[in-house]
Amino acid sequence: MTILIKTPEEIERMRLACRLGAELLDYVTPFVQVGVSTLELNQICHDYMVNVQGTVPATLNYAPPGHTPYPFSICTSVNHQICHGMPSDRPLKNGDIVNIDVTVIKNGFHGDTSRMFLLGAPSIQAKRLCQITHECMWLGIRAARPGGHFGDIGAAIQKHAEQNGYSVVREFCGHGVGRSFHEDPQVLHYGRAGSGEALKPGMIFTIEPMINAGKAAISSLADGWTVVTKDRSLSAQWEHTVLITEKGAEVLTLSPLHPDTPKDFPVKQN
Ligand code: MF3
Ligand code: CO
Ligand code: CO
Repeated sequence: MTILIKTPEEIERMRLACRLGAELLDYVTPFVQVGVSTLELNQICHDYMVNVQGTVPATLNYAPPGHTPYPFSICTSVNHQICHGMPSDRPLKNGDIVNIDVTVIKNGFHGDTSRMFLLGAPSIQAKRLCQITHECMWLGIRAARPGGHFGDIGAAIQKHAEQNGYSVVREFCGHGVGRSFHEDPQVLHYGRAGSGEALKPGMIFTIEPMINAGKAAISSLADGWTVVTKDRSLSAQWEHTVLITEKGAEVLTLSPLHPDTPKDFPVKQN
C-alpha cells in the first residue's frame, strides 16, 4: 500500500477540483424538490459539469474490477439505498431522503463529495438519521490530525453511530483521492483509535460514513451497482474530501451551502 503525499502544486489542483464538486452540489440543491426524478437531477448535474464548469463526471463509465461501467454522472441513493444508487425516472416524493454523490475531474484531479437532501416533511426518524450521520462525518474529520492514525477516524464515527442506536456499513469506506478516483488507503468508518497507518501532512482522502438506522448488513441489486440495507431500513451518508495539514484536517469540499463545521458542533455526547 502506498499512501501518496501530495505536492503543493497537486494540493492546489485538488483544492480547485474539490471546490467545484461542492459548488456542483450547491447548484443542484434548488432542483431537489418533490416531483423531480433523480434522472433529471443527473442531467442537470451532467450539463453543469460539462458545459459550465468544464469538469469531467468521474463516475460516468467508471468501471472498477468486477463491475460493469457505471452509466451516470452522479449517484443518487434514496431511502434504504446505501450508496451507488442509479438515477431513475421515479419522481422523488414527500418524506424521501436522498444522498447525491458527485465526483468531478478538473485538470486531472478528482473532487469527491456527497450530501443528504430531505424532501418535504420527512419523519423524525429520517431527520435524526441524517443529522447523526452528518455529526459522524464531522467527528471523523475532527479526529484526523497529523501524528494520529486512520483508526482514530473510524473509532470516532463508530462510537457516535452506535451510541445513537445505528450501525456502520463495513463493505464501503473512504479512500485516498487525487489523480485517481480511488487511491490507497481505505478509510474505514469503524475501528480502534491508534490503529492503522499514521496520518501525515499532504495526505488527501475522503471521509464518507454510511450509517444504517437498522442492521449493518447490505445487499446488492441486480443492476450491478445499487447497494441497499438488507433489512430495508433507512441509510444516510455524507462525504467530504480532506487534506491533512501541519495543524489538523482541512476540508477541501466546503462551499457556501455546506460551510465549515456546523454551529451545533461538537455534539453533546451522552
Ligand atoms: N463517489 C463514490 C465515492 O464516494 C464512488 C461512486 S463510483 C460509481 O467513492 F461508479 F458508483 F459512481
Ligand atoms: Co468517495
Ligand atoms: Co463520493
